[in-house]
Amino acid sequence: MKFFQRTRFTFQLFLFVCVTKVKTDVSTVHLGEVVVLHCVHSIENFSMVSWTVDFHNKSSCYLSTLGNGTKESCKGRMHLDIDNNETSLRIHSGAVFDEGNYTCQIVNRSGTFLYTVALQVLAEPFVSIKIDENGNPECRAVGGKPAANISWTPEPSDDVKTRSNRELNGTTTVISSYNTSNKDVTCIVSHPTFTSPIERRSSKLALGAGGNNLILILCIITVLVLLLGLILFWKRSNLRTCLSMKHDGSAAREDPVVMVEEVEPYASFTQTMNTIYNSTYNLAEYKGAQRTRQTT
Ligand SMILES: *[C@@H]1O[C@H](CO)[C@@H](O)[C@H](O)[C@H]1NC(C)=O
Ligand SMILES: *[C@@H]1O[C@H](CO)[C@@H](O)[C@H](O)[C@H]1NC(C)=O
Ligand SMILES: *[C@@H]1O[C@H](CO)[C@@H](O)[C@H](O)[C@H]1NC(C)=O
Ligand SMILES: *[C@@H]1O[C@H](CO)[C@@H](O)[C@H](O)[C@H]1NC(C)=O
Ligand SMILES: *[C@@H]1O[C@H](CO)[C@@H](O)[C@H](O)[C@H]1NC(C)=O
Ligand SMILES: *[C@@H]1O[C@H](CO)[C@@H](O)[C@H](O)[C@H]1NC(C)=O
Ligand SMILES: *[C@@H]1O[C@H](CO)[C@@H](O)[C@H](O)[C@H]1NC(C)=O
Ligand SMILES: *[C@@H]1O[C@H](CO)[C@@H](O)[C@H](O)[C@H]1NC(C)=O
Ligand SMILES: *[C@@H]1O[C@H](CO)[C@@H](O)[C@H](O)[C@H]1NC(C)=O
Repeated sequence: MKFFQRTRFTFQLFLFVCVTKVKTDVSTVHLGEVVVLHCVHSIENFSMVSWTVDFHNKSSCYLSTLGNGTKESCKGRMHLDIDNNETSLRIHSGAVFDEGNYTCQIVNRSGTFLYTVALQVLAEPFVSIKIDENGNPECRAVGGKPAANISWTPEPSDDVKTRSNRELNGTTTVISSYNTSNKDVTCIVSHPTFTSPIERRSSKLALGAGGNNLILILCIITVLVLLLGLILFWKRSNLRTCLSMKHDGSAAREDPVVMVEEVEPYASFTQTMNTIYNSTYNLAEYKGAQRTRQTT
């Protein structure tokens, strides 16, 4: 009887392990997103729950609960959410170094349930094209995880140089330059995070130069508007000094301004009248003089 129970226990343990070893899932998350790995099971009255992490760099860490105590060696990056039939592991912000195999272990007196999930972290690269210092079109896919794949059309023979740099956050930047005299080439960047490859045409860079012209024109317009504003401001401030003169100046001080403006036309008119009077007077004087000469 005891022997039978023992073999049954071993068999169950074997079954648990067997069943779960086959089931290795892949969970994919984007860099910086919340990671939640679910471990769904049907173990009753479990006494222990644990997650062990085998990182790609061969180091490992664990979290485990026994009763109501929790032990962990993952530097507080990971948290456990334990429910009746599900245990999940949560990472607040997924990073490239979190990649690895995550194994959950649920233990009751009859056996152990194991489930392993491989965590993959993806990062979408930023794609751009420019003309490099040699005058060749250069395509960049910055911060991709995994590294982006860059190709060109028309198909180059051997004049493409592609290099990649590993960034501090674990992503890869791929830079590809095409030594060609063709002014219209297209680079094609493919990446698991793209639903379809992204294309960038070097001929669009001519438009980019046009954009520079546009910026120049915008600059000129801005300067003109500023100048106009300055002139308006200057005029207004002139008016304001004028007005302030009116306000704080006495009536005597105010009147000359008004008089100069209003009287001036009359003044000039009077003056012409005066010249007419003067000329008629002169004429009369002249005639008078003549008359006196005649009488003498
Ligand atoms: C352990 O879980 C299994 C699966 O649900 C169950 O059949 C078994 O009775 C449980 N053992 C104990 C001791 O609770
Ligand atoms: C699990 O524990 C409950 C009490 O918490 C008990 O009633 C039940 O029989 C246990 N199940 C097994 C399979 O031991
Ligand atoms: C993760 O599991 C896979 C498949 O079992 C294995 O090939 C790989 O080496 C494991 N990686 C680590 C870091 O343990
Ligand atoms: C569980 O936690 C309670 C309160 O924190 C404590 O009194 C109890 O001793 C703990 N039990 C075990 C088994 O650690
Ligand atoms: C898990 O348990 C909840 C109740 O605690 C139940 O509603 C749900 O259906 C269970 N899920 C599975 C897969 O057993
Ligand atoms: C491996 O990566 C883990 C996860 O970030 C880190 O804690 C550990 O220090 C790394 N180990 C080595 C040897 O680089
Ligand atoms: C990773 O680093 C690269 C280079 O510093 C940066 O361009 C990119 O935005 C970073 N990615 C994330 C998701 O922070
Ligand atoms: C990149 O694309 C080329 C051509 O489509 C293909 O041969 C190559 O295997 C790809 N490389 C990767 C790393 O996807
Ligand atoms: C580009 O190709 C031309 C002709 O094949 C060669 O003379 C020149 O050195 C190359 N330039 C670069 C930057 O590779």
